Amino acid sequence: MKTPLMWRVFVLSAVLAQGLDAWRSDHEECALPLKHFKYISPSGYGEKCITYTNVTDAFHEACRGILGIEPGTDDLTDIQLDNFGDVIQETTRILCDWFGLTKDQVRSLLPIINTANTDIGSYCPKELKSYPGNDCGNGIGFRSADGRCNNFVHPHWGASKLPFKRFIPPDYGDGIKSIRTSITGFPLPNPRSISARVHKDIARPHRTDITFMFAAFGQLIDHDLTLTAETKDPITRQEIKCCSGASHPYCIPVNVPTDDQFFVGSHRQRCIDMIRSLAGVNIDCPLGPRVQTNALTSAIDGNFIYGSNENVAKKLRSFEGGKLSMVPVLAGHRLKPILPPKKHQPDDGCIRPHPDLYCFLAGDNRVNEQLALGVLHTIFAREHNRIADELCAINSHWDDERLYQETRRIVGAMIQHITYNEFLPKLLGKHTMRKYGLELSPTGYSNNYDPDTDITIPAVFGAAAFRFGHSLLPDAMERWSVDHKFLGSRRFSEMFQQPYDLHKPGWLDQYLLGMVNQASQAMDDAVTSQVTNHLFQEPANDYGKDLASINIQRAREHGIPSYPAWRQFCKLPPIKSWSSMLTDISNATIKAYYDLYTSPEDVDLWSAGVSERSIEDSIIGPTFGCIIAKTFSDLKKGDRFWYENPGLPNSFTLEQLNEIKKVKLSRVICDNSDNIVTIQPFALEQPSQYKNNRVSCKGYLLPQMDLWAWKEYTGCCSKKKVPNPNNPNTQIHKVQVNEWNKEDDNLQKFIQAIAVNISSSKPNSWK
Ligand code: HEM
Repeated sequence: MKTPLMWRVFVLSAVLAQGLDAWRSDHEECALPLKHFKYISPSGYGEKCITYTNVTDAFHEACRGILGIEPGTDDLTDIQLDNFGDVIQETTRILCDWFGLTKDQVRSLLPIINTANTDIGSYCPKELKSYPGNDCGNGIGFRSADGRCNNFVHPHWGASKLPFKRFIPPDYGDGIKSIRTSITGFPLPNPRSISARVHKDIARPHRTDITFMFAAFGQLIDHDLTLTAETKDPITRQEIKCCSGASHPYCIPVNVPTDDQFFVGSHRQRCIDMIRSLAGVNIDCPLGPRVQTNALTSAIDGNFIYGSNENVAKKLRSFEGGKLSMVPVLAGHRLKPILPPKKHQPDDGCIRPHPDLYCFLAGDNRVNEQLALGVLHTIFAREHNRIADELCAINSHWDDERLYQETRRIVGAMIQHITYNEFLPKLLGKHTMRKYGLELSPTGYSNNYDPDTDITIPAVFGAAAFRFGHSLLPDAMERWSVDHKFLGSRRFSEMFQQPYDLHKPGWLDQYLLGMVNQASQAMDDAVTSQVTNHLFQEPANDYGKDLASINIQRAREHGIPSYPAWRQFCKLPPIKSWSSMLTDISNATIKAYYDLYTSPEDVDLWSAGVSERSIEDSIIGPTFGCIIAKTFSDLKKGDRFWYENPGLPNSFTLEQLNEIKKVKLSRVICDNSDNIVTIQPFALEQPSQYKNNRVSCKGYLLPQMDLWAWKEYTGCCSKKKVPNPNNPNTQIHKVQVNEWNKEDDNLQKFIQAIAVNISSSKPNSWK
């Protein structure tokens, strides 16, 4: 019988034999010259090559049994893409073994090989093949649903279902795919130990004046930018339970240390569920280390409203008057329509106390993750329909498609404007805004479009830097009255994945008013236990998951390099010792790091990033500030549809642009809430008598866009196009609307009954 050692010797000799075969195949076409072989070649002649045949051989070895697709298969599902990504990493590993490559060579040389000349090429699906911009057809006026063709030279830049880009090379334990390790080669400290020691729940309101709306809007923007493709059960779309014995190869549960007071001490839980993100494949299917897929389009384009691909986009549209489907379940109370119910895969991301109770459907599946998202999604979907109605009245000759696309373009521009005019200046401060060219011109165009800038979101942004917002979270969401008096609050743990309060008449407004009155927590290392102990807590339990542990573990499994590497990337004073951290991080946190980590080189980026003291007039510290500013700078410069761009087929007229520049988030809230009467002009900052005093929604102090700037004068012959009755989408929708209308009454009664049930079963949840 073979012992493991013998087995290893056997494998090694087989590998060496193959390597030598490869060595001998000098006649074959060279895919990658390896200069270092020159020196160990006995004859000292020429360079050694990895040949295309070597790559094909390694690929077939890697494929065995797991690929599950035929050559020439296109439109791969998430799972097929993940399998393919896995096989490409395994091919990389095999070549690395055969040719004794270093981590650096794996990262920098293997991706150069043109795999189109190997068998990988025949499996590389068409959606992953680069194509010339002239294949973009004439889709130049409006954004495509999946973000393709934003850039004519690189049509895939910023498209959905493609990998995140890297600002600096990844740092995997094995150089290819395994979770990051210490510079000593040993595992990094347990994420829960870091969470429990550094990211304690200490309630400190933010030292500046930001409202909870600031955090909520930040999360909404993130949901316009990143959604890392998740590993879920392929049939139920439910989470895979690694802690309950599921043996998925991607399981990376966090083991809770025995001295943990909450999980072990109070709840005897030794394990927090977690699974790796799906593997992705880069454009043209190159070799190289593991990459992760962004399920969303990169540009700020309102995809959380519209979806990131054509299928989702169609499901959300009503195909009448350019509008989105919304349901008038609260019309009896003279309230505006709300988001439609999520009836397909209703349990995906939703806790349903009753089979007839549904969460909401929106462009981003996380709409139900916590209630503030549901609130903002509703407001922006209503804004779309409000604008579509107005445009329809102004340009009665526009058909549904034109109304939808024009409205989508305006709403996308409004979101860009609010983000760069209200959110980023607060987050980053004046100096960083100027340094990275993020400032807007007060009126008119700005001519900064650079087609060489790649808008693809960097991995570090989603896996660490933009998760800064987890530190700002309070432990409950407040409800306030129309005259700005506190009414009550509900803990997050009671409404994760349960947005049912929004079915209650008047509650959407109350939560909105809460969001613009309630303070955010401080940006620091403290994180509310609502997310470090109770994340996604099931109604029957008193514990959930730990988001801080998950953030740390997630960045490690995505190969995000450590904090010192990012300081270097940002040209900040280097971290060479524990004491060199003192300039930006408190003594107590450094002491905790010293106790936990073997070396300052190992410290995890998310943990240190939220712990950095914020720089003057900003919310965040220098490292996150630099990563976030660089990302938003690329998003501004590299977006052909950037709303301030002049002279392109998709550009707004000067008059239209100046109308968009009037928009404020508070205006959007006023126009789309049910009955809000007054609000402070800057909704991300708390109201204050001198700086941000509340004003009337009806007054001139909150200017409104004048949509007459979009009036199209067409002469006498234009006619309104009626929806094509043969269009299958129109028909399907009509059936849906009728179905909802029939159900409305029952659904409404039922939802309210359930909602009352939920709240009465939690008597302590109300203040
Ligand atoms: C109650 C509020 C929030 C909850 C419950 C929440 C929860 C989560 C969860 C469960 C994840 C996925 C973790 C993983 O598996 O890796 C996540 C990811 C993320 N969160 Fe939050 N979050 C909240 C607020 C925020 C805020 C305020 C921000 C930023 C301002 C933010 C930014 C992000 C980002 C950038 C990601 C990565 C998304 C991706 O690429 O998939 N979150 N959050």
